[in-house]
Amino acid sequence: MNRVYIKTYGCQMNERDSEAVSEMLRGRGYSIVQHEEDADVVLLNTCSVREQAEQKAIGKAGYLKRRLRKNPNFILGVMGCMAQNRGVELIDKLPDIDLIIGTQKFHQVPDHLDNIFKTLEGQGPKPSTIVDLENEQGSQNTIVAHNLDKRKVSAFISIMQGCNMNCTFCIVPKTRGRERCRPIESIVEEAHELVENGTKEITLLGQIVNSYGRREIPFIQGKSPFVQLLERLNEIKGLERIRFTSPHPRGFKQDLVEAYRDLPKLCEYIHLPMQSGSSKILKKMNRPYSRERFKQLVGDLRSVVPDMYFSTDIIVGFPGETDQDFELTRNLFEEIGFEMAFIFKYSTRTGTPAAILEDQIPKEVKEERNQILLSILEKASLKRNQNLIGTTQEILVEGPARKGENMFVGRNRGFRKVVFSGSERLIGELVPVKIEEASVTTVRGSLVIQ
Ligand code: 5AD
Repeated sequence: MNRVYIKTYGCQMNERDSEAVSEMLRGRGYSIVQHEEDADVVLLNTCSVREQAEQKAIGKAGYLKRRLRKNPNFILGVMGCMAQNRGVELIDKLPDIDLIIGTQKFHQVPDHLDNIFKTLEGQGPKPSTIVDLENEQGSQNTIVAHNLDKRKVSAFISIMQGCNMNCTFCIVPKTRGRERCRPIESIVEEAHELVENGTKEITLLGQIVNSYGRREIPFIQGKSPFVQLLERLNEIKGLERIRFTSPHPRGFKQDLVEAYRDLPKLCEYIHLPMQSGSSKILKKMNRPYSRERFKQLVGDLRSVVPDMYFSTDIIVGFPGETDQDFELTRNLFEEIGFEMAFIFKYSTRTGTPAAILEDQIPKEVKEERNQILLSILEKASLKRNQNLIGTTQEILVEGPARKGENMFVGRNRGFRKVVFSGSERLIGELVPVKIEEASVTTVRGSLVIQ
């Protein structure tokens, strides 16, 4: 009666939230199962960034309910962004749903499930849908639980929640609320705990990580709270690598650029959402930087770390994006030479300012622009990988590769996946691998015997 399966849609933040919910549930005696067929409870942790992500989760919920109707005690919950975005309206679409849990209420899931099970055990009828969507002060401090029985070579830490930026295309300010940060000490403590359990790499998560603590924590010697946090983490013995996602170009100041020069554990890979290469479109998106400023920031970072890896988010087909605007995006995208990118076709989100703009772009045009950027990305990515051939890379070994006997996979500091022949005991170690082959997504090499 207490087997829970959690399916996660969307970003790393959602993954981390699901992980924390799993751990809280384990602490209450629930078991977390890997297959939905084995579960008494299925929780969908959802994404609202694009229409398609919501449709997927709604489709899945409908399917689960139909398939599991045989078991009247089967429990289905929707958590996270879509729950927050759609609220009680979800009951119209999914009348049998048991739980609707907002983004500030993840920590309440164990209590809600306990209550449902108590009623069922007392032979009572299943309660009507539980809806828990309020804002809750301090909820950012509740995403801390990790499964420390299991060693995680690389771990996420949620340092803040919410977003105050109001990009005109984006639903996240509605789904995640205003920015709230965790104290530096608590984050450092969490990192220590992970490292004591064998974690070598941490990725700090937040909607806009570089606005971490801007209102709560004073600058010290021109250093922002986020850079102060990075400095503290860099001191942790046994921690090897630090990453973060995502920063906003706006608050990306010289102190953060210099952190790449000064903090050896900060990896030379950065996900820096550009969204568009046209200053006119950026303005309409309410992204407060220009094409030139973005270019300059990339240049500043490259002057500090010449072989920095860059990744980005782009939206094609934002309302009013002309051929010339897209050409500016295409051109800057190619010039910067991103090794990784998420390219999104603009998706209308009800309630956002861009949803009511004129000049919505036809689907076919979005698709065409999407394909153009994808093919540029493929070339840049392949070229960067091929340039690794012959070099020896420091690889943090994560685990067995998906294919191949004795094949293992890890990443270099630039976040490139590297496959090589190794052994179980190397998991969690930093090893030198000489690169021999490269494709668009993966590189292969051989362990260098020291
Ligand atoms: N349509 C398409 N892409 C979007 N994103 C956010 N909102 C939308 C939307 N309405 C993309 C942005 C953001 C990423 C997480 O999702 O590129 O950086």
